[in-house]
Amino acid sequence: MANDLMPDHIMAVAFGFWSAKTLLTAVELGVFTELAKEPMDAEELRNRLGLHPRSARDFFDALVAMRMLERQNDRYSNTAETDLFLDKAKPGYLGGLLEMANVRMYPHWCSFTEALHTGLPQNESKGGGATFADMYADRERMRIFLKSMTGHSIPPAKAMAAKFPWRDYRSLADIGTAEGGLPVQIALAHPHLTAIGFDLAPVAPVFEEYVDSFGLRDRVRFQSGDFFKDPLPRVDVLVFGHVLHNWNIQERGMLLAKAYEALPNKGAVIVYEALIDNERRENVFGLLMSLHMLIETKGGANFTGAECSEWMREAGFSDTRIEHLAGPEYMVVGIK
Ligand SMILES: C[S@@+](CC[C@H](N)C(=O)[O-])C[C@H]1O[C@@H](n2cnc3c(N)ncnc32)[C@H](O)[C@@H]1O
Repeated sequence: MANDLMPDHIMAVAFGFWSAKTLLTAVELGVFTELAKEPMDAEELRNRLGLHPRSARDFFDALVAMRMLERQNDRYSNTAETDLFLDKAKPGYLGGLLEMANVRMYPHWCSFTEALHTGLPQNESKGGGATFADMYADRERMRIFLKSMTGHSIPPAKAMAAKFPWRDYRSLADIGTAEGGLPVQIALAHPHLTAIGFDLAPVAPVFEEYVDSFGLRDRVRFQSGDFFKDPLPRVDVLVFGHVLHNWNIQERGMLLAKAYEALPNKGAVIVYEALIDNERRENVFGLLMSLHMLIETKGGANFTGAECSEWMREAGFSDTRIEHLAGPEYMVVGIK
């Protein structure tokens, strides 16, 4: 029996960093943005990207083998997915998050063992105590971070626009909104709604520029505030997307209690995250995101839908449900 065992799965996981780094570097170099303009052969593509001849062909063909590029008659082109999500010129560009994964997360994960031993973050705050506000002191870093949030919040935001019964509500606020990816998608799909993006004051110009690009300024506005110090907006629906996992369990409970206080009767709170499955054995992305919260935050972690429902009930919400949104993302809805 043991003779039939193969190490293929172990090897594929162990050397996953080769494929991750190959894809992230392709995004960094703009491979997909160049190929979105026109298909081209290896020599043309190499020249456009300014690569040395030695490994350019292996690089392009590795991307073909990884199903990130296609090659026909020696000409390379994007796949349908990489064309839509990895071309910088397209609105669906997801690469902001991948750019951040390449330049920040990848090096920070080299200290993963230390993080497991110490329980301490391994990002820029290492040895110090950087907060969101510290990060936002550097306006360019803030802009890159906020834009990187948009790409990955769009697919769950579109799913939430379709699945949640928005016709029963008139207003929402997205708490910790970043650039405003979620309120924009909900407002586009539901013209009767008004929306607030709530976030720290420095975020305002980036949010407003993004909302203006959709012509939604009359229905989607920014409200600056600190959710630990200020009351939350009084609207019908409060959304927390990828926010609770940044904070420790007491802080999560406190934010949900504040949401309960701000909402009217029958108002709804929606938490959406890459939830860990209740059995804690299936959603690899949710579990790895939780480990990423170890790298990035002082007390954050991802959680299961059952845990989140329990915190909602502790905060006073009577009725809770969990629904799938997109990919690894789920929402937990609580009704007051
Ligand atoms: C991980 S991002 C999530 C962004 C967005 N909701 C999404 O899902 O893409 C966390 C957001 O919370 C905001 N934030 C952090 N601390 C905050 C605070 N004390 N008050 C208000 N917003 C805060 C950050 O500025 C950031 O936009």
